[in-house]
Amino acid sequence: MADWPDRLRSFFVPGSTTGMAKPKKRFICTECGSVSTRWQGQCGDCQQWNTLVEDAPDTKFAAKHDLSSGGRALTFESLDAPTKPLVRRSTGIAEFDRALGGGLVPGAAILMGGEPGIGKSTLLLQAAAKIAQGGRSAVYVSGEEATGQVRMRAARLGLSKAPLKLAAATSVRDILTTLGQDDPPELLIIDSIQTMHSDMIEGAPGTVSQVRASAFELIRYAKERGTALVLVGHVTKDGNIAGPRVLEHMVDTVMSFEGERSHQYRILRCLKNRFGAVDEIGVFAMEGHGLDEVGNPSSLFLSGREEPIAGAAVFPALEGTRPVLVEIQALIVRLQSGATPRRAVVGWDSGRLAMLLAVLESRCGLSFSTAEVYLNVAGGYRLADPAADLAVAAALISALADKPLAANAVWFGEVALSGEIRPVAHGNVRQKESAKLGFKRAMGPADGWQDVAGLRYTDVGSVASLVDRVMASA
Ligand code: TYD
Ligand code: MG
Repeated sequence: MADWPDRLRSFFVPGSTTGMAKPKKRFICTECGSVSTRWQGQCGDCQQWNTLVEDAPDTKFAAKHDLSSGGRALTFESLDAPTKPLVRRSTGIAEFDRALGGGLVPGAAILMGGEPGIGKSTLLLQAAAKIAQGGRSAVYVSGEEATGQVRMRAARLGLSKAPLKLAAATSVRDILTTLGQDDPPELLIIDSIQTMHSDMIEGAPGTVSQVRASAFELIRYAKERGTALVLVGHVTKDGNIAGPRVLEHMVDTVMSFEGERSHQYRILRCLKNRFGAVDEIGVFAMEGHGLDEVGNPSSLFLSGREEPIAGAAVFPALEGTRPVLVEIQALIVRLQSGATPRRAVVGWDSGRLAMLLAVLESRCGLSFSTAEVYLNVAGGYRLADPAADLAVAAALISALADKPLAANAVWFGEVALSGEIRPVAHGNVRQKESAKLGFKRAMGPADGWQDVAGLRYTDVGSVASLVDRVMASA
């Protein structure tokens, strides 16, 4: 190490390679679930205060235990052995089924996360009532609201007559004892897991160990009896299912119910699914009478486009197999003073915006360094599709030049650091949806697309030719 260059030596942490004594205690953050070996007032990961709680210490296994004898012998199986096909049962809500990858699987445990007030209880009450109305059994256990409150919501949703079994309870033992007296229901909803309490271990409801123990008991019941279980979980500001991140490993499916409370639409996403794909979404609109399914989401995000405005570009996004057209809006404000310009992004990755600005700056000579840049995905929609690069670049250039883009055009493609427009997946699905919604032109990468009736395709080439194209437009 003595002859290491200074730069390398500075990365070397003294003592990091020598054997240190194993910590006996460990602490878990109830906000983000991160584990640390010593107690601190502030969590090192999520920066929340007073959230670290002591957890059961790591059990030490003595090396002298011989694990090669005394166990039960396993029977190995082959991969092609016959298996029963997966049964999926409809929730009665097509958008919910779609997000689940086709419906509820008996015995599956689903964690449904979402911010308070986003509509989790409403969605699940609607699903449970639909199942009950179809003559199947559904149990809804509320730990947050009294039965009267749930009944009022059901009345508002017009579901009061559904033969759903409703209870207000927080004791896992009471719930499981009650369920054990009868045939297992097809669907069991626990709203929410943070209010549940298991007497198997100490601790107040909502603590990491309680949430984990309660979930464990409920999941075991679901697996043994073939009941589909939905656990509602609260979500923190940064999108983590609060405290019980540990739960994500225990359940089969993790779903997140998202949206802006000020906008009426909601998106149900699957973040993990042991029984299907994770890229399908369900789209809903929160109305006075509950959640309505939105079969054609593009119409939701594009409404009110008549006059072409500078800085707006339409992007045919793909959510799973479903195309959704969204409008990307950019605003550029030139700064007079030498203040540090702001970059604010809603609905897209700010790191990606910084990358695009850098590409536009170095490949096309456009300068954004003295301008504030605001980027917004209309309708409060959140984009994860990398194909949005070209539409964002077009919106930025259009805003900078104060020249509107053609109102009947859509833009898609990934922008490489070299400034080239790179092909993206499912170009023809994007184009078909655009044509269906009345768009006449599609602008994109050189390959990876097909002719679509009613839509003229233009190969944009690179960001430099994109700039020429926008500047030349009337
Ligand atoms: P809720 O399902 O209680 O949210 P969560 O369980 O995720 O906390 O939804 C509450 C919000 O939904 C509340 O702000 C009112 C609104 N809402 C409607 O707009 N229409 C309705 O029919 C219902 C039941 C709720
Ligand atoms: Mg609720």
